[in-house]
Amino acid sequence: MQSYSFESYGQAMAPVFDAINDDPEEVAAIVAFLRARAGDGPVLEAGIGTGRVGLPLAEAGVELHGVEISEAMAEQLRAKPGADKVELVVGDMNEVDLGREFSMVYLVQGTFGSLLSEENQRRFLATAHRLLAPGGRLVIETMEVDETRFTHDQYVATSLLDVGYAVLSAAMREPGTQVLSIQNIMLGAHGIQVFPVKFRYYTAEQLDGMAEDTGFTLVERCVDWGASPYEKGDLNHVSVFEKR
Ligand SMILES: C[S@@+](CC[C@H](N)C(=O)[O-])C[C@H]1O[C@@H](n2cnc3c(N)ncnc32)[C@H](O)[C@@H]1O
Repeated sequence: MQSYSFESYGQAMAPVFDAINDDPEEVAAIVAFLRARAGDGPVLEAGIGTGRVGLPLAEAGVELHGVEISEAMAEQLRAKPGADKVELVVGDMNEVDLGREFSMVYLVQGTFGSLLSEENQRRFLATAHRLLAPGGRLVIETMEVDETRFTHDQYVATSLLDVGYAVLSAAMREPGTQVLSIQNIMLGAHGIQVFPVKFRYYTAEQLDGMAEDTGFTLVERCVDWGASPYEKGDLNHVSVFEKR
């Protein structure tokens, strides 16, 4: 997917992101999990998107800062009630200088994978390390790829289905760089729409290696935001690292 950019993601996803991610129980669990580990604040969400998580976390009393690269996603956040409670910076999480220390930095969904090379992922870990106060926490949610889906490094899967529509996901990967490109194709009464996504996937072991190299220690790993215990091989996980 050569012409993919952060804005192609943002422009396609911004109008539909909240409708697709509309599980209030999940958001409540994420907010409770993060609130319990936030420390004294302030807290930074890298890739805050539409504020799906950041706004309720700020509402729960956390001093919340967010960085977001897509203007289209940031616009959605700004239009919501309570947006004034979030200190929002539009820019690249690897580039912005926020000029202060945080007690926690967190990335939800596949946001860490949005950094499309190992070099960029390592660079962000170094950025987070620099931004965190001593003993500060870095929380990363990961959805690993399911190896069983691929044939010749490709798959097509049904991602969503209802009476009025279906979303088919056509995926191709480059195993050397671990970059996965997915074109989500929505077929429905309004015709055909496409939602391109690209990310660098990684395993729990690879994440731990990169984090360890950067000065983080893994202190907790759960399989979900309800803090259910992680078992080796689980594809979804939430990892909590502490700055050494
Ligand atoms: C999967 S969405 C998640 C949004 C939000 N964290 C949530 O869970 O609702 C990932 C977000 O990260 C943003 N993003 C990707 N790369 C970024 C970067 N380098 N700097 C800042 N934001 C980035 C995307 O534009 C997108 O809004």
